[in-house]
Amino acid sequence: MVHADNAPDSSLRALRHRHLLGLSTYGSDEIRLILRTAREFRSVLDRPIRRVPTLRGVTVANLFFEPSTRTRLSFELAAKRLSADVVNFSTAGSSVSKGETLKDTVRNIEAMKVDMAVVRHASPGVPHFLTRCVDVQVVNAGDGAHEHPSQALLDLLTMTEHYDSFDGLNVTIIGDIAHSRVARSNIYGLHTLGANVTLCGPPTLVPVDIRALGVRVTHSLGDALEGCDVAMSLRIQLERQDASLVPSTREYHDRFGIKLRDLERHPDLIVMHPGPVNRGVELASDVVDHERAIILRQVTNGVAVRMAILYLLATATRAHDMSAGPTVS
Ligand code: NCD
Repeated sequence: MVHADNAPDSSLRALRHRHLLGLSTYGSDEIRLILRTAREFRSVLDRPIRRVPTLRGVTVANLFFEPSTRTRLSFELAAKRLSADVVNFSTAGSSVSKGETLKDTVRNIEAMKVDMAVVRHASPGVPHFLTRCVDVQVVNAGDGAHEHPSQALLDLLTMTEHYDSFDGLNVTIIGDIAHSRVARSNIYGLHTLGANVTLCGPPTLVPVDIRALGVRVTHSLGDALEGCDVAMSLRIQLERQDASLVPSTREYHDRFGIKLRDLERHPDLIVMHPGPVNRGVELASDVVDHERAIILRQVTNGVAVRMAILYLLATATRAHDMSAGPTVS
């Protein structure tokens, strides 16, 4: 298959950034480099022994100040598949609950000689803040409703398995746009690569100023799916809302949930979801299990993308001679 990153800017060998804080500042050449590298690592994941020595000697700390299943496991697996040492930290049972500041917690972790920190936090901007407090390389694993770049990158990688170009690709993001870091990172990444983005959801969940990002907005699912290549459904982020912004989950599903009849009406439509899925709310249960819902493929690609992120950030700054590309043998 001709991949969506066989573009003129595909000659870049190393990232210009030292951290991955968001996709808003990443160029198309850097995004394509990550996707290309992830594709090489994906072949490692299909082998009987899914481990390469590439990041031996590098220590990665997973700092999760907010709940996570997929993203934390995925980063941990990615680091282990690259032979890095991994330590995991989550707020429960930590000194954060004893009143230690975020800065002090992270400076203590840095004092234990950690090279990279993968950070998830409920407050937007925490990963950026940490780059000013400590000397480790920081990967944003989701900061409040701001950005979730590794999720968008795995989404982009998954799209390239179905479409050979982002140019003019029509992607619709449906649901709680207002509280979604996944939506924001996807908008940046998709626009940088040349795709068109439509946002759809109840007016209470689509911020009025979001059009400034160059997206099309509609409040009708039927309208949103017309001419759409990829539909990405999002969970309603109840944990980030102080008021109930949808009347009921049943009514939400009636108006914005993707149903089997939508897949029948649009025979080429592909459905994605970052997880966790609420069956019967954003997607009908039979849609979740449908062959055109590629949600588990996204999860598999997540490990490969995170291997690529860790590898490329490590090689961007380390003296190791890794310039010949990823050691996948
Ligand atoms: C997303 C997140 O945490 O932002 N999930 C994920 O990383 N797989 C979306 C969500 O929580 O709904």
